[in-house]
Amino acid sequence: MPTIPLVDLQAQYRSLKPAVDAAIRRVLASGQFILGPEVEALEREVAAFCGTCYAVAVASGTDALILALRAAGISSGDEVITSGFTFFATAEAILAVGATPVFADIDAATYTLDPQDVRRRLTRRTRALLPVHLYGHPCDMRALGALARARGLVLVEDCAQALGAAQGGRPVGSFGAAGCLSFYPSKNLGAYGDAGMVVTSDARLAEQVRLLRAHGSHARYRHLAVGTNSRLDELQAAILRVKLHHLRGWNAARRRHAAAYTSLLQRTGLPRHALPQERPGTRHAYALYTIRTPRRDRVQRALAAAGIACQVAYPSTVPAQPALRRRRHERLPAAEAAARQVLSLPLYPEMARGTITRVVATVQRALSAR
Ligand SMILES: Cc1ncc(COP(=O)(O)O)c(C=O)c1O
Repeated sequence: MPTIPLVDLQAQYRSLKPAVDAAIRRVLASGQFILGPEVEALEREVAAFCGTCYAVAVASGTDALILALRAAGISSGDEVITSGFTFFATAEAILAVGATPVFADIDAATYTLDPQDVRRRLTRRTRALLPVHLYGHPCDMRALGALARARGLVLVEDCAQALGAAQGGRPVGSFGAAGCLSFYPSKNLGAYGDAGMVVTSDARLAEQVRLLRAHGSHARYRHLAVGTNSRLDELQAAILRVKLHHLRGWNAARRRHAAAYTSLLQRTGLPRHALPQERPGTRHAYALYTIRTPRRDRVQRALAAAGIACQVAYPSTVPAQPALRRRRHERLPAAEAAARQVLSLPLYPEMARGTITRVVATVQRALSAR
């Protein structure tokens, strides 16, 4: 076990133990375990947090993407343009609804979908855009929103890494037809298991996701559509409600730690472009603090030797994954370079300043060694 973890979920639990334990006991005593009052309350609270009218809880972030695309009517024959540099689930969701993922390159400074490159990849069959707010940095939603409106495209946001991020004061998840959230345990708002949510201000889309998550049924044994089982359970919802109260404070702490990293790393001689950027007018949620260096292997080895965890998200572009190699894809130079160079350092709200200093000192030693 590394002495400095990438995220410290045990420290988080210690700080919340009385409230989390009470929430769990409340659900156990209620005898209601799936899609009950806790889920409904969580949906209201997350919708308010994201500035949307509705939220529909589902079993994972992957399901949120699949069900949002299905509810928006995306299906076989449709092309969906997304980032070539994201977690595999984004592309999997497009394939799961029978559509074709078209991968666009990223903006090298923020690792998010490049609107210019998206424009080049539009065809007659393009039906939707699926931008990913990677590492917690919002995509350029002004440009992508304008493009979607001009071409009549559905805009679905992958907000799995970005709950709490904003552009122009507007929360991510509220720009498109739907925003898809993941509550995977290590996310900024993490459950104690899998969980996800679709946020939207489109009443019809919300209703459709509600239907699809429960076998296409609103009334017992009457099925209006062929859906799936993607219900959220009450235990996860109750735990997430406790944690949601802390999310703004946790995200503020993440931003403070990120600023400390950036100021210390700049002094080590790492160029500005090697450190995370925050575009003017955006609020980064810092799900990950990610640097880039051509000497990544050396830094990884030094961190491992010092007992410090780190992570490469992601070592490959999505189209280069073995599962997709048989499909023909164009080159994505910025995404390919990122895959060779990115490295995420430990970052979690409970982190002490001294921990950041230790990580930076190890990175510096690795980079200055001959
Ligand atoms: C960008 C992105 N999209 C989708 C997902 C899928 O979410 P989940 O693991 O909750 O299914 C993740 C999770 O890591 C993610 O990072």
